[in-house]
Amino acid sequence: MLCGKGLVAGYLGAPVLHEVSIDVRRGEVFCLLGANGAGKSTTAKCLAGALGLRGGRVTIDDVDVTAAGAHERVRRGVSLVPEARHLFGRSTVRDNIMLGGWTKSRSHRPASFERVLEMFPQLKRLLKSRARDLSGGEQQMVAIGRALMADPRYLILDEPSLGLAPIYVDAILRQAAELARQRVGILLIEQNVGKALSIGHRAAVVETGRVVLSGTAEEVAANPLVVDSYLGGAA
Ligand SMILES: Nc1ncnc2c1ncn2[C@@H]1O[C@H](COP(=O)(O)OP(=O)(O)OP(=O)(O)O)[C@@H](O)[C@H]1O
Ligand SMILES: [Mg+2]
Repeated sequence: MLCGKGLVAGYLGAPVLHEVSIDVRRGEVFCLLGANGAGKSTTAKCLAGALGLRGGRVTIDDVDVTAAGAHERVRRGVSLVPEARHLFGRSTVRDNIMLGGWTKSRSHRPASFERVLEMFPQLKRLLKSRARDLSGGEQQMVAIGRALMADPRYLILDEPSLGLAPIYVDAILRQAAELARQRVGILLIEQNVGKALSIGHRAAVVETGRVVLSGTAEEVAANPLVVDSYLGGAA
């Protein structure tokens, strides 16, 4: 389990997260929902070690990693695909993906690279292209592929479908579900709440830095707060 317990964190000034607790199990898609500015990305950064905590702790399969930085957490099985993707625009698609293999010996990288291309065959013909020349959806696949090079046991996807055409949104969410079937624990932050919950196993809603609701994806999808605020009151 990837577990954040009582996370308190922020930037300058007042805390943004007020004792957020969240746990992601291997083999599940856990949806983290909430309005803009609620603290979803901040939670993701705390779990991945990209932001220090003022309180609480993080464990990966029962190992306390609260003091460990982001690199150490990647080695221990947690990878984050951040909202902004952070690709190297002038480098090729191949080089961007390969960069994610730094945790592994050189001899293991080709097999991981092949698995990334099996997952995203659309990238095969783009390997020599510069990352910045790709569409948003293709870039997101590169960002996810790079994270997969480390063979994560837990993968945090922060708004993977932001700004993408619907065809890519479906492709990326389908791959998230497939990764969960392969025993990866997925923390999925998504604005496409209906689509996310349709592939999710469990979910939580954060509001102003607090978890206000959590349960199975079905329970959360049926909750009036979620129906009214995130599903357009349509259910
Ligand atoms: N680097 C930063 N410096 C200062 N404040 C920040 C920084 N990043 C986020 N914040 C603030 O922290 C709060 C939570 O932001 P966060 O990015 O976690 O929200 P979010 O739920 O991911 O929102 P969104 O849906 O817009 O991505 C917001 O008030 C935001 O303005
Ligand atoms: Mg965010």
